[in-house]
Amino acid sequence: MVITPAWCGEAFGEQLHRLLSDLHSHPELSWEETRTTQHILSALGQLPGVEILDIGAKTGAVARLAGGSGPAVALRADIDAIPQHEAVDRPDRSVWEGKMHACGHDIHTVSLLGAAMALCKAREQLRGDVYFVFQPAEEALSGARYLTEDCRLFDAIHPRAMFGLHNYPELPVGAVGVKEGILMSFKDVFEMRFIGRSGHSSMPQKNIDPIVAAAAFIQSAQTITSRNVGPLESAVVSICQVHAGTPRNLVVDDVLLSGNIRTLDEAVRKRVLRRFEQIARGTAEAYECRLELDLHPIVPGVDNGREMYEIALAATRASLGEAAVAVPPVNLASEDFSVYGQYVPTFFYFLGSGAPGRPLYSWHNACFYPDERTPVYGAALLAQSVLSAQAAL
Ligand code: NI
Repeated sequence: MVITPAWCGEAFGEQLHRLLSDLHSHPELSWEETRTTQHILSALGQLPGVEILDIGAKTGAVARLAGGSGPAVALRADIDAIPQHEAVDRPDRSVWEGKMHACGHDIHTVSLLGAAMALCKAREQLRGDVYFVFQPAEEALSGARYLTEDCRLFDAIHPRAMFGLHNYPELPVGAVGVKEGILMSFKDVFEMRFIGRSGHSSMPQKNIDPIVAAAAFIQSAQTITSRNVGPLESAVVSICQVHAGTPRNLVVDDVLLSGNIRTLDEAVRKRVLRRFEQIARGTAEAYECRLELDLHPIVPGVDNGREMYEIALAATRASLGEAAVAVPPVNLASEDFSVYGQYVPTFFYFLGSGAPGRPLYSWHNACFYPDERTPVYGAALLAQSVLSAQAAL
C-alpha cells in the first residue's frame, strides 16, 4: 500500500485547507505559539489512537501513534511565524499586524497534521510507532535544542529515523527536492568588541582609536572567503552590526561588531573560524586594542546521509511519482532540524510550494504566497516516508 494525495481523498484536501487558513491568519512568533499549540492538540485529539506525550514544553506538541514493535519513526514540523508585515491580499491574511507566516511553517504544521490523519487511516500498515513532533521557535534557531536538551525529547521518544521538510517555492507544488548530502548551512555567530582608549579627537597620540582597528578588521575579514576558502568551497562571513560613537569630537572607548558565519562542511568551517579569530586578534594587537570575542556555534548543517536519502527517494517516488523528484541546490540558510541529526538518522525534504501563475517570492518576503495545496503533498510524503522507512530499517 502506498500513501498518495489521491489515496488521501478530496475531503482531506479541503480539511487541510481549512486548517491552513486558520493557522495562516493567526501567525505566532517564536515561543509565543500558544494558540497554534492549542489548535494542534485539538486536531490531534480527534484522531483515534493518537496519544499526546507531555514532555513539559512551553509551546509545541509531541504525540505518538502506536504501531507495533518494529522500527519507530518520527516526523517533525516547525510551527512559528516571523515579524513581517503581510503584503499579500489573500482571504486568510494575517489578522495580526507585523506577524506573518512568511516562511510557510503553517504549511509544515498542517502537513504534519495531515500525515497523522493519513497514518491513522493506514494504521494496519504500520510496523512500528510513529512520533509527531511539532517544534516551537525554529526561527529563533533554538526550538530543537530546547526540545532535545531542556525537555529531553529523546528520553520520551525512541525513533530509528526522523523526517522533516521545508516548503520551497522555487519548485512547483507537487515536486519535491530530494538531495543527498549537505542541504543547508552550518551557522556560527559572533559578537566582538575592539577596546581602545577614548580621548579628545584632536590628540590621537594620547588615544587608541578602536574605530580604525574595527575598520581594518572589517576589510581583512573579507579575505577569509576570497583567500582562505577554495573557489569550489562555500562560506559566508557577514558583519551585520557596527556600533560606536556619539559626539563627533571624541575618540571612543570601544566598537561592537556582530554577525554570522555560514559554511557547508566541518573542515571549511573550522578553517574559517580559525582565520576569523586569528585576524581579529592580530588586528587588535596591530592597532594596540584589546579584543573581546564571543564566537559560538548556533546549528550544524542539515546533512542527508546516504541510507536516509535512499529511503526518502523511494518514498517520494512511491507517493508523488518519479516526475516529482528534483535535486535542489544547496541553501546557505540554516535550519535547526539539523540538531535532531545529532541523535538519530534524519532526512530533510524541500517540498515544492510554488503556485503556477503566481509571482515567485521566497521565504521571509512580505509577498510570500505559496500554493495552498502544498500540505496535501507534504502530508502524503511524510506519511509514506514512515511506511518506507519502517519497511527498510
Ligand atoms: Ni522556515
